[in-house]
Amino acid sequence: MPEIHIGRAEEIGEGERRIVSHEDVEIGVFRWEGAYFAYRNQCPHQGGPACEGLLMHRVVEVLGEHNTYLRMGWDKSEMHFVCPWHGWEFDLRTGECAADRRWKIRGYRTELRDGELYVHA
Ligand code: FES
Repeated sequence: MPEIHIGRAEEIGEGERRIVSHEDVEIGVFRWEGAYFAYRNQCPHQGGPACEGLLMHRVVEVLGEHNTYLRMGWDKSEMHFVCPWHGWEFDLRTGECAADRRWKIRGYRTELRDGELYVHA
């Protein structure tokens, strides 16, 4: 399994990402809450560059007494990245599609070693 050197981990700021190419594959490397996540930059829907899309928290319905709808809100415990082609959302921590967890974007293990970040592809 090839190890891809991404660079100094600190060069990716909190909430930022980097898209790297390795042979004919693009990989999106994200930093979120101090952890690193890597996914193939190819959406399982129709191949769009999913890792280049918007980052946003999970949208939830805020309910009141008796489960009455109050408004839409954000679940700040779950961050998504959104494929720019048709809006499929992926959980940043797991790569699962938020609308249907059976779908998943291909993920890679990340490793931090002596301040350097690696992806195992
Ligand atoms: S290709 Fe990503 S949502 Fe369609």
